Amino acid sequence: MAVLAIDSYALEVPDIAPGVRFYSDAGLETRVEGNIARFRCVDQSHDSVVLLGGFPRKRLHHIALRAEELDQIALQVPTAGGALTRAPAGFDDDGLWVRDPHGTLIHLVERAAAVEPVPAPAFAINAPGRIVRMRRSAILPASAYVPVKPVKLGHVLLFTPDVATSVRFMTDALGMGLADRAQDVIAFCCARRNSDHHVVAFAKSPGVGFHHGSFQVHDPDAVGRGGRALLQKTGKGSWGFGRHTIGSNFFHYIQDPWGSWFEYYADIDFIDDHSRWTP
Ligand SMILES: [Fe+2]
Repeated sequence: MAVLAIDSYALEVPDIAPGVRFYSDAGLETRVEGNIARFRCVDQSHDSVVLLGGFPRKRLHHIALRAEELDQIALQVPTAGGALTRAPAGFDDDGLWVRDPHGTLIHLVERAAAVEPVPAPAFAINAPGRIVRMRRSAILPASAYVPVKPVKLGHVLLFTPDVATSVRFMTDALGMGLADRAQDVIAFCCARRNSDHHVVAFAKSPGVGFHHGSFQVHDPDAVGRGGRALLQKTGKGSWGFGRHTIGSNFFHYIQDPWGSWFEYYADIDFIDDHSRWTP
Protein backbone atom coordinates (compact mmCIF):
# COMPACT_ATOMS: atom_id res chain seq x y z
CA MET A 1 0.00 0.00 0.00
CA ALA A 2 1.27 3.49 -0.71
CA VAL A 3 -1.10 6.44 -1.16
CA LEU A 4 -3.72 6.50 1.59
CA ALA A 5 -5.75 9.68 0.92
CA ILE A 6 -5.67 13.18 -0.50
CA ASP A 7 -4.01 15.69 1.79
CA SER A 8 -4.26 19.08 0.07
CA TYR A 9 -3.79 21.09 -3.09
CA ALA A 10 -1.96 24.33 -3.75
CA LEU A 11 -2.84 26.85 -6.44
CA GLU A 12 -0.87 29.78 -7.79
CA VAL A 13 -3.17 32.80 -8.20
CA PRO A 14 -2.69 36.48 -9.04
CA ASP A 15 -4.39 37.76 -5.87
CA ILE A 16 -5.32 35.74 -2.79
CA ALA A 17 -8.09 38.15 -1.67
CA PRO A 18 -10.91 36.71 -3.86
CA GLY A 19 -9.83 33.22 -2.80
CA VAL A 20 -9.92 34.11 0.89
CA ARG A 21 -13.49 35.32 0.44
CA PHE A 22 -14.48 32.28 -1.61
CA TYR A 23 -13.09 29.54 0.60
CA SER A 24 -14.25 31.32 3.77
CA ASP A 25 -17.73 31.55 2.28
CA ALA A 26 -17.47 27.84 1.45
CA GLY A 27 -17.06 27.05 5.15
CA LEU A 28 -13.31 26.53 5.52
CA GLU A 29 -11.22 28.02 8.31
CA THR A 30 -8.85 30.62 6.88
CA ARG A 31 -5.34 31.75 7.78
CA VAL A 32 -3.42 34.41 5.85
CA GLU A 33 0.32 34.98 6.11
CA GLY A 34 1.53 37.65 3.72
CA ASN A 35 0.78 36.51 0.20
CA ILE A 36 -0.15 32.93 1.21
CA ALA A 37 -3.61 31.83 2.34
CA ARG A 38 -4.28 28.45 3.95
CA PHE A 39 -7.63 26.79 4.47
CA ARG A 40 -8.64 23.79 6.55
CA CYS A 41 -11.80 21.86 7.25
CA VAL A 42 -13.58 22.05 10.56
CA ASP A 43 -11.83 20.14 13.39
CA GLN A 44 -8.89 19.12 11.17
CA SER A 45 -5.26 19.71 12.09
CA HIS A 46 -3.88 20.12 8.56
CA ASP A 47 -4.57 22.52 5.70
CA SER A 48 -6.56 21.30 2.69
CA VAL A 49 -5.98 24.24 0.35
CA VAL A 50 -3.05 26.62 -0.06
CA LEU A 51 -3.24 29.72 -2.27
CA LEU A 52 0.04 31.29 -3.36
CA GLY A 53 -0.50 34.90 -4.45
CA GLY A 54 1.47 37.07 -6.85
CA PHE A 55 1.47 34.81 -9.91
CA PRO A 56 0.41 35.92 -13.41
CA ARG A 57 -2.51 33.50 -13.61
CA LYS A 58 -4.22 30.66 -11.80
CA ARG A 59 -2.29 27.44 -12.11
CA LEU A 60 -2.00 24.21 -10.14
CA HIS A 61 1.16 24.34 -8.04
CA HIS A 62 0.97 20.81 -6.63
CA ILE A 63 -1.23 18.25 -4.95
CA ALA A 64 -0.25 16.53 -1.70
CA LEU A 65 -1.18 12.93 -0.94
CA ARG A 66 -0.94 11.17 2.41
CA ALA A 67 1.16 8.06 1.85
CA GLU A 68 3.34 5.42 3.46
CA GLU A 69 6.33 3.37 2.27
CA LEU A 70 7.89 6.41 0.61
CA ASP A 71 11.18 4.54 0.01
CA GLN A 72 9.31 2.05 -2.16
CA ILE A 73 7.54 4.85 -4.04
CA ALA A 74 10.90 6.56 -4.67
CA LEU A 75 12.14 3.38 -6.38
CA GLN A 76 9.00 3.05 -8.50
CA VAL A 77 8.68 6.67 -9.70
CA PRO A 78 11.48 6.68 -12.32
CA THR A 79 10.51 3.31 -13.83
CA ALA A 80 6.87 4.48 -14.10
CA GLY A 81 7.85 7.51 -16.17
CA GLY A 82 8.02 10.12 -13.41
CA ALA A 83 10.88 11.90 -11.70
CA LEU A 84 12.00 12.60 -8.15
CA THR A 85 12.49 16.31 -7.55
CA ARG A 86 13.40 18.78 -4.81
CA ALA A 87 10.88 20.71 -2.75
CA PRO A 88 9.82 23.89 -4.55
CA ALA A 89 10.82 27.26 -3.09
CA GLY A 90 8.98 28.01 0.13
CA PHE A 91 8.06 24.37 0.88
CA ASP A 92 9.66 21.92 3.31
CA ASP A 93 11.80 19.11 1.98
CA ASP A 94 9.87 16.55 4.05
CA GLY A 95 8.27 13.49 2.52
CA LEU A 96 8.83 12.94 -1.19
CA TRP A 97 8.37 15.40 -4.06
CA VAL A 98 7.79 13.84 -7.49
CA ARG A 99 6.65 14.84 -10.95
CA ASP A 100 4.31 12.60 -12.90
CA PRO A 101 4.98 11.87 -16.60
CA HIS A 102 3.27 15.14 -17.61
CA GLY A 103 5.15 17.28 -15.09
CA THR A 104 2.40 17.62 -12.49
CA LEU A 105 4.04 18.12 -9.10
CA ILE A 106 2.98 15.72 -6.32
CA HIS A 107 4.05 15.90 -2.68
CA LEU A 108 3.81 12.61 -0.77
CA VAL A 109 3.56 13.19 2.96
CA GLU A 110 3.66 10.75 5.88
CA ARG A 111 1.09 11.86 8.39
CA ALA A 112 -1.26 10.20 10.84
CA ALA A 113 -4.81 9.85 9.57
CA ALA A 114 -7.17 12.68 10.46
CA VAL A 115 -9.55 12.01 13.31
CA GLU A 116 -12.81 10.62 11.96
CA PRO A 117 -15.63 13.18 12.11
CA VAL A 118 -18.34 12.74 14.71
CA PRO A 119 -21.26 11.09 12.86
CA ALA A 120 -24.25 13.31 12.22
CA PRO A 121 -27.74 11.92 12.85
CA ALA A 122 -28.65 9.35 10.18
CA PHE A 123 -30.19 10.83 7.02
CA ALA A 124 -33.77 9.60 7.25
CA ILE A 125 -35.57 8.93 3.95
CA ASN A 126 -39.12 7.66 3.87
CA ALA A 127 -39.67 4.99 1.24
CA PRO A 128 -42.54 2.69 0.28
CA GLY A 129 -42.81 0.12 3.05
CA ARG A 130 -40.15 1.82 5.14
CA ILE A 131 -41.29 4.91 7.02
CA VAL A 132 -38.47 6.17 9.23
CA ARG A 133 -39.57 9.78 9.72
CA MET A 134 -43.04 10.83 10.82
CA ARG A 135 -44.73 13.75 12.54
CA ARG A 136 -41.79 15.99 11.67
CA SER A 137 -40.63 17.83 8.59
CA ALA A 138 -37.30 16.93 7.03
CA ILE A 139 -36.74 20.57 6.13
CA LEU A 140 -36.44 23.14 8.89
CA PRO A 141 -36.94 26.91 8.65
CA ALA A 142 -33.87 28.45 7.01
CA SER A 143 -32.98 30.28 10.23
CA ALA A 144 -32.60 26.94 12.05
CA TYR A 145 -29.56 25.91 9.98
CA VAL A 146 -25.97 26.84 10.71
CA PRO A 147 -23.72 27.42 7.65
CA VAL A 148 -22.42 24.23 6.04
CA LYS A 149 -18.80 23.40 6.93
CA PRO A 150 -17.00 20.64 5.01
CA VAL A 151 -15.46 17.88 7.13
CA LYS A 152 -12.67 16.91 4.73
CA LEU A 153 -11.12 17.32 1.29
CA GLY A 154 -12.06 14.07 -0.47
CA HIS A 155 -10.60 14.28 -3.96
CA VAL A 156 -9.27 16.42 -6.76
CA LEU A 157 -9.88 16.20 -10.51
CA LEU A 158 -6.88 17.12 -12.65
CA PHE A 159 -6.49 17.70 -16.38
CA THR A 160 -4.06 15.59 -18.37
CA PRO A 161 -3.35 15.18 -22.08
CA ASP A 162 -3.18 11.38 -21.63
CA VAL A 163 -5.50 9.85 -19.04
CA ALA A 164 -4.10 6.31 -19.37
CA THR A 165 -0.51 7.43 -18.78
CA SER A 166 -1.52 9.51 -15.76
CA VAL A 167 -3.46 6.60 -14.26
CA ARG A 168 -0.62 4.16 -14.90
CA PHE A 169 1.71 6.42 -12.94
CA MET A 170 -0.71 6.59 -10.02
CA THR A 171 -1.13 2.82 -9.93
CA ASP A 172 2.44 1.69 -10.75
CA ALA A 173 4.45 4.39 -8.96
CA LEU A 174 2.13 5.50 -6.16
CA GLY A 175 0.32 2.21 -5.49
CA MET A 176 -3.20 3.52 -6.09
CA GLY A 177 -6.05 1.55 -7.67
CA LEU A 178 -8.20 2.27 -10.71
CA ALA A 179 -11.74 2.69 -9.40
CA ASP A 180 -13.51 3.41 -12.69
CA ARG A 181 -13.00 5.02 -16.07
CA ALA A 182 -15.01 6.15 -19.08
CA GLN A 183 -13.18 5.36 -22.35
CA ASP A 184 -10.00 7.49 -22.49
CA VAL A 185 -11.84 10.62 -21.37
CA ILE A 186 -11.90 10.38 -17.58
CA ALA A 187 -10.59 7.99 -14.92
CA PHE A 188 -10.80 7.74 -11.14
CA CYS A 189 -8.08 6.48 -8.79
CA CYS A 190 -8.56 5.39 -5.17
CA ALA A 191 -6.35 4.21 -2.36
CA ARG A 192 -6.20 0.43 -2.22
CA ARG A 193 -7.66 0.22 1.27
CA ASN A 194 -10.45 2.11 3.03
CA SER A 195 -10.86 4.75 0.36
CA ASP A 196 -13.50 7.01 -1.03
CA HIS A 197 -14.34 5.86 -4.56
CA HIS A 198 -11.88 8.42 -5.89
CA VAL A 199 -9.05 10.39 -4.40
CA VAL A 200 -7.39 11.64 -7.59
CA ALA A 201 -9.22 11.69 -10.93
CA PHE A 202 -8.07 12.72 -14.40
CA ALA A 203 -9.97 14.31 -17.27
CA LYS A 204 -8.59 14.54 -20.81
CA SER A 205 -7.56 18.01 -21.93
CA PRO A 206 -4.88 19.56 -24.17
CA GLY A 207 -2.83 20.48 -21.09
CA VAL A 208 -2.35 19.71 -17.41
CA GLY A 209 -4.10 21.60 -14.62
CA PHE A 210 -6.72 21.72 -11.91
CA HIS A 211 -10.44 21.17 -12.50
CA HIS A 212 -11.88 20.91 -8.97
CA GLY A 213 -11.40 20.04 -5.34
CA SER A 214 -14.23 18.17 -3.63
CA PHE A 215 -15.21 18.56 0.01
CA GLN A 216 -17.32 16.15 2.02
CA VAL A 217 -20.38 17.23 3.99
CA HIS A 218 -22.67 15.05 6.06
CA ASP A 219 -25.65 14.39 3.80
CA PRO A 220 -27.40 15.35 0.55
CA ASP A 221 -29.29 18.20 2.21
CA ALA A 222 -25.98 19.77 3.24
CA VAL A 223 -24.72 19.42 -0.34
CA GLY A 224 -27.71 21.34 -1.65
CA ARG A 225 -27.83 23.86 1.16
CA GLY A 226 -24.09 24.55 1.01
CA GLY A 227 -24.08 24.82 -2.77
CA ARG A 228 -27.01 27.20 -2.85
CA ALA A 229 -25.55 29.43 -0.12
CA LEU A 230 -22.14 29.59 -1.80
CA LEU A 231 -23.69 30.36 -5.17
CA GLN A 232 -25.70 33.20 -3.64
CA LYS A 233 -22.48 34.68 -2.27
CA THR A 234 -20.29 34.17 -5.34
CA GLY A 235 -22.85 34.70 -8.10
CA LYS A 236 -20.81 32.58 -10.50
CA GLY A 237 -21.44 29.30 -12.29
CA SER A 238 -22.87 26.22 -10.69
CA TRP A 239 -23.58 22.61 -11.67
CA GLY A 240 -25.94 20.67 -9.46
CA PHE A 241 -27.57 19.67 -7.27
CA GLY A 242 -27.15 16.19 -8.74
CA ARG A 243 -25.85 12.66 -8.28
CA HIS A 244 -22.88 11.21 -10.16
CA THR A 245 -23.14 7.92 -12.01
CA ILE A 246 -19.46 7.21 -11.25
CA GLY A 247 -18.84 7.20 -7.49
CA SER A 248 -22.54 7.71 -6.72
CA ASN A 249 -21.89 10.91 -4.77
CA PHE A 250 -24.46 13.67 -4.49
CA PHE A 251 -22.78 16.84 -5.75
CA HIS A 252 -23.08 20.56 -6.16
CA TYR A 253 -20.27 22.43 -7.93
CA ILE A 254 -19.68 26.15 -7.57
CA GLN A 255 -17.21 28.01 -9.76
CA ASP A 256 -14.26 29.56 -7.92
CA PRO A 257 -12.89 33.08 -8.65
CA TRP A 258 -10.56 31.76 -11.38
CA GLY A 259 -12.96 29.52 -13.29
CA SER A 260 -12.08 26.23 -11.60
CA TRP A 261 -14.63 24.45 -9.44
CA PHE A 262 -15.39 23.69 -5.80
CA GLU A 263 -17.54 20.63 -5.13
CA TYR A 264 -19.56 19.70 -2.05
CA TYR A 265 -20.25 15.96 -1.94
CA ALA A 266 -21.99 13.38 0.23
CA ASP A 267 -22.53 9.61 0.13
CA ILE A 268 -19.68 8.61 -2.20
CA ASP A 269 -19.04 4.90 -2.86
CA PHE A 270 -16.47 3.42 -0.48
CA ILE A 271 -13.82 0.86 -1.42
CA ASP A 272 -12.50 -0.97 1.65
CA ASP A 273 -10.38 -3.40 -0.42
CA HIS A 274 -9.51 -2.56 -4.02
CA SER A 275 -8.72 -6.21 -4.81
CA ARG A 276 -12.42 -6.95 -4.28
CA TRP A 277 -13.70 -4.00 -6.37
CA THR A 278 -14.53 -4.35 -10.06
CA PRO A 279 -13.88 -1.09 -11.94
FE1 LIG B 1 -15.61 15.48 -7.89
